Amino acid sequence: MYRLVFSQVLRRFDAEAVHRLTVSALALLARLPLLKRLLHRAFAPHDPALRVSAFGVHFPGPLGLAAGFDKDAACAEGIAALGFGHVEVGTITAHGQPGNPRPRLFRLVRERAVINRMGFNNEGAHAAARRLRKPRSVPVVVGVNIGKTKVVPESEATADYVASARLLAPLADYLVVNVSSPNTPGLRNLQAVSLLRPLLTAVKQVADATPRRTPLLVKIAPDLADEDVDAVAELALELGLDGIIATNTTIRHGGETGGLSGRPLKERSLAVLRRLRAKTGDRLTLVSAGGVEDVDDVWERILAGATLVQGYTGWIYGGPLWAARIHRQLLRRVHRHGLKSVTEAVGRTA
Ligand SMILES: Cc1cc2nc3c(=O)[nH]c(=O)nc-3n(C[C@H](O)[C@H](O)[C@H](O)COP(=O)(O)O)c2cc1C
Repeated sequence: MYRLVFSQVLRRFDAEAVHRLTVSALALLARLPLLKRLLHRAFAPHDPALRVSAFGVHFPGPLGLAAGFDKDAACAEGIAALGFGHVEVGTITAHGQPGNPRPRLFRLVRERAVINRMGFNNEGAHAAARRLRKPRSVPVVVGVNIGKTKVVPESEATADYVASARLLAPLADYLVVNVSSPNTPGLRNLQAVSLLRPLLTAVKQVADATPRRTPLLVKIAPDLADEDVDAVAELALELGLDGIIATNTTIRHGGETGGLSGRPLKERSLAVLRRLRAKTGDRLTLVSAGGVEDVDDVWERILAGATLVQGYTGWIYGGPLWAARIHRQLLRRVHRHGLKSVTEAVGRTA
């Protein structure tokens, strides 16, 4: 059904217009508590065998929505009601900014991929904090992904991230330092250990000082050389980070300027996960994102060492109930393998 709607209707409209409409619909859903609760009961993962715990946070299921969809923390409850086990909001920057000129979001339907050069369009950390403070009527695990404000020079990047962290860490179930988006000039340079160490150290101080000690993760690009992946992993261990999210979008493609996501990213994203697992074992929580399309992909990532898995582009092509469907199929997979819970499968082939 969704395939038909997508091929006959949605793909004829501008990708960003469809995105904005979807966010508005989900934000509206958040204001309809009865419907929201009904959907949540029907589609959110509820089976104890799907539950996973990571860095002291309990997730109802391992598959969450990757950063970039709910940039302003406007509709996390609606997303959770459709079956996602967590929602990573953002990327949020200390100061609001419009992002790059449009068009900046492109579907590659045949490749099951997307190219985006959104450029962290968001209303800023204060606006997001106001939304995150609102009480919720369905449970949802919310990760907050922060990035650098475009006009802030690299030399002041740490202060900029710290400003966001101060406002948002107390409101987040976990916090992510994003140094891997390709659409803010110079951002990815921050992945170099010499720049990353002071940045992560400063943000960690803020995250550690919240009443619950907010878990801190770093999100990396798939385009890092293998040795640089290792270096970030070592740094994460040295600083006592809680985990790594691998990966963001890739700039290794021949299309429009921007980051490529979806199916073409699958192989590299899995390779980075395997490398991280080999390097860190179970000392860090690994969150795998990039080209996850179906239950086989989710299962493969879990076996390779991911405690949590994220998707975005797969949802665009898979339809609104994509995550609910995958969680249902995942439960069957767990039972078929004679396991009591999905947690038992983490890292089995690593
Ligand atoms: C339209 C779009 C916008 C994105 N914006 C962000 C962002 O703001 N911050 C971020 O960390 N990742 C962002 N991403 C990357 C995703 O979070 C994810 O890491 C990447 O798309 C790979 O997963 P996928 O293949 O399932 O889409 C964005 C991806 C897309 C498609």
